[in-house]
Amino acid sequence: MGKNLEGCVAIVTGASSGIGRETALLLAKKGVKVALVSRREDRLKDVSREINELGASALIMPMDVSDQSQVERMVERIVEQFGRVDILVNNAGFGQFASIEETSTGDLHEIFGVNFMGTFYAIKAVLPHMRKQGNGHIINISSVAGKRGFPFTGAYCATKFAMNAISEALRIELSGTKIKVSLVYPVTTKTEFFDVLKNKTEQRFQPPEMFSQSAYQVARAIVKCAENPSPEVLPFPLARFLIVINAIAPGVLDYILRRYYKSKIK
Ligand SMILES: NC(=O)c1ccc[n+]([C@@H]2O[C@H](COP(=O)([O-])OP(=O)(O)OC[C@H]3O[C@@H](n4cnc5c(N)ncnc54)[C@H](OP(=O)(O)O)[C@@H]3O)[C@@H](O)[C@H]2O)c1
Repeated sequence: MGKNLEGCVAIVTGASSGIGRETALLLAKKGVKVALVSRREDRLKDVSREINELGASALIMPMDVSDQSQVERMVERIVEQFGRVDILVNNAGFGQFASIEETSTGDLHEIFGVNFMGTFYAIKAVLPHMRKQGNGHIINISSVAGKRGFPFTGAYCATKFAMNAISEALRIELSGTKIKVSLVYPVTTKTEFFDVLKNKTEQRFQPPEMFSQSAYQVARAIVKCAENPSPEVLPFPLARFLIVINAIAPGVLDYILRRYYKSKIK
């Protein structure tokens, strides 16, 4: 049986839509006090209202995770309000669709600012509190695109590879403490992600239907991980094949991807 999450305090970044919204709702159903973080206040209010309808309450924190001082203030406010922070779900992020040649230095800074630096700032801000209280759980939402570089999303993939690297390092650095670090690797998930994706090309990309899941399925895997911490979570189990093929025969995956992208990019 997993840990009872009732009464725990969680921060969910990117809680205004998709995976973050579903995760916040599921955590609230488990009796977790949730802080909802993202830029769009109106959308956070909607999620908070849904949480109220479940008989729970949430704190809304409209802010930009790429701003370190805002992240630090957010964590301080949560600790002031609730006295602790048990779970941090680093989920805020966005994608870019562009070849490496089309990616500018500014694009790279922008995507790293949110997907990677946002994660780093939040980890730095919660760790002193988790160390003081003697436990905690950091759950970083990576992607299968953090296990293998995909064409036209090289910058996005790089942010997720970087996220994996600091998560793996931190996991070992924290061994001997009761602070856990987990990585979650969703495949294509039906959310607003593909609507807000910054497309720098003239082409349209249709994400693979066969390898896709719902935000609710990913959220369920995240909450299960909060109850039973594990280093890595693959909400779509078949994704393991892709990871294994890439590890043992990357050329085979190159071939498959070349064919796939030729047919999908219009
Ligand atoms: N969808 C997929 O296929 C997929 C697959 C693998 C991994 N993922 C990862 O899953 C995570 C969630 O994505 P999703 O699919 O749920 O997409 P989504 O519906 O577009 O949600 C992204 C969330 O991030 C927030 N966000 C973006 N920039 C932010 C910023 N600067 N500061 C604060 N919040 C910010 C957005 O809220 P605001 O706009 O209100 O700020 C939104 O709540 C991302 O890290 C993504 O990389 C997604």
